[in-house]
Amino acid sequence: MEKILDIITAKMQQAFVDAGYDASFGRVTVSNRPDLCEYQCNGALSAAKTYKCAPIQIAKAVVEKLDEGDYSLVEAVMPGFINLKLSDSFLQNYLEAMRTAPDFGVEKVGAGKTIVVDYGGPNVAKPLHIGHLRSAIIGEAMKRLHKFMGYNAIGDIHLGDWGLQMGLIITELQERQPDLPYFDPDFEGEYPAEAPFTISELEEIYPAASAKKKEDPDFADRAHTATFELQQGRRGYRAIWEHIMRLSVADMTRIYDNLDVHFESWLGESDADPYIPAMVQDLKDRGLAVQSEGAWVVPVAEETDKKEIPPMILVKSDGSAIYATTDLATMVQRMQDFKPDKMLYLTDKRQALHFEQVFRAARKSGIVAADTELEHVGFGTMNGKDGKPFKTREGGVMRLERLIAEMTDFVRAKVVENQIVSPDEVEETTAKIALAALKYGDLSNQPTKDYVFDMDRFAAFEGNTGPYILYTIVRVKSIIAKYGQYKHLSIQAPANQYAKDLMLAITKFGPALESALKSSAPNLICAYIYELAGAVNKFYHETRILGEEDEQKKAGYIALIGLAKDILEACISILGFSAPEKM
Ligand code: ARG
Repeated sequence: MEKILDIITAKMQQAFVDAGYDASFGRVTVSNRPDLCEYQCNGALSAAKTYKCAPIQIAKAVVEKLDEGDYSLVEAVMPGFINLKLSDSFLQNYLEAMRTAPDFGVEKVGAGKTIVVDYGGPNVAKPLHIGHLRSAIIGEAMKRLHKFMGYNAIGDIHLGDWGLQMGLIITELQERQPDLPYFDPDFEGEYPAEAPFTISELEEIYPAASAKKKEDPDFADRAHTATFELQQGRRGYRAIWEHIMRLSVADMTRIYDNLDVHFESWLGESDADPYIPAMVQDLKDRGLAVQSEGAWVVPVAEETDKKEIPPMILVKSDGSAIYATTDLATMVQRMQDFKPDKMLYLTDKRQALHFEQVFRAARKSGIVAADTELEHVGFGTMNGKDGKPFKTREGGVMRLERLIAEMTDFVRAKVVENQIVSPDEVEETTAKIALAALKYGDLSNQPTKDYVFDMDRFAAFEGNTGPYILYTIVRVKSIIAKYGQYKHLSIQAPANQYAKDLMLAITKFGPALESALKSSAPNLICAYIYELAGAVNKFYHETRILGEEDEQKKAGYIALIGLAKDILEACISILGFSAPEKM
């Protein structure tokens, strides 16, 4: 559906033309004085300079040409503003069209386009910690937003499954269990199907090995060699790698499932490996990669740079590929497999330079087509109340699982204390509220900003929180449950000012999604639903809905709050959570 601003701008432009002025002056904006009007046009002020006459004169002439049926207020005010309020019938017709259109008439701006959203980015064999939370939450929301807007959106987890951590684990395992067949170069039989470790052992092996690397140069050397041999395809090491992958991916899936985060593609750095040799050769052949202190690098500095951008390291002096190499090779693979219109990456903002280098190398080399957009959203840190990165009470790194568990316990206590649902529904209701608290607490902040994780505030049922949004939805659900069917009921003209405010809020759905998409800012969806939920609650408090005696009117109220609820639910589904039945 066409957006309201576009509709009334087109009509305003026609009115300027009909009054003898140029159409370009007819731009309408949302009013910055909501106390006076809903929309405004300031074009007469600039037109006055061109036509050398008083702005108010132009404004008045234009107002004469507007269709009165569209507005309940249309006036020219000094010095030359045109103030507008939409008419009841305009709003009624617009909302009825939204109600009956697929996905509430949102324009599918991504139809026919493909986007790869690279998020999550966990490293296998390392437990997920809160550093991974934002990428999962923001990435999932951005992916779902793109899907809703019509894109073919592919969420790719881009596992860290190829680096030194693998060599470290292999080396440590060899020290502990040297007799395993994986380490015998002459072994030709089948390796055991069961891994020689459990996931919790694995999570202990890695930090132990990582600590050893720092103290023991010989161990570090062996780990480097093991990494290299793994990457060269040494059979026993590949088998260990596969064990690690299987256990680790199963464990991650479980935790991401709890967050309602799902990936279409489970590829990792290792999958980029086959693309590396040809890519490196090509970059060397074309002189794009040059030798520097024994390594091969791609210079990416540009004359206009304000700060120094160092060259991207392609191959280290020992011949190994690094993080940037796999990212560039992954682009080769993605261009080949999907030819996406966009690749969107979500990581901590400390990786900004890395992506700047990789993007430039991709452009310079033509690995990524000129019409494929590249964007990195670098997000801020989740801090504790002390303003430092969030830690456990004991001061350690907070595991993602534990954070989810703590939020869940906190919410469960409330659900039980307030006797919100019957005992057998406690877990499901708790899980939904906890997820909303966690995700909305994160998503309502601008991605690039740091924010403070505050369980009390995030889980509060009032204020700008996830549970407040759920509460509003649940409130409407319970009214509708008492009323009965509502999907067939038509929107009516607003019965009072609160109804009109609610209707105006509903019309901003499409524009809100479009802005969130354009600026990769799910926080704009949060701001929108906070406003919409506020309008729903205001209407509810000021209007007797079920008590209304006029059945016809009552049906109109139900249609209106029903539509508001459906839109709220569409929004939270994009944000990645859902509402319980009772709260
Ligand atoms: N595994 C990486 C890390 O832990 C994040 C991966 C992000 N995605 C990417 N394509 N580089 O830092």
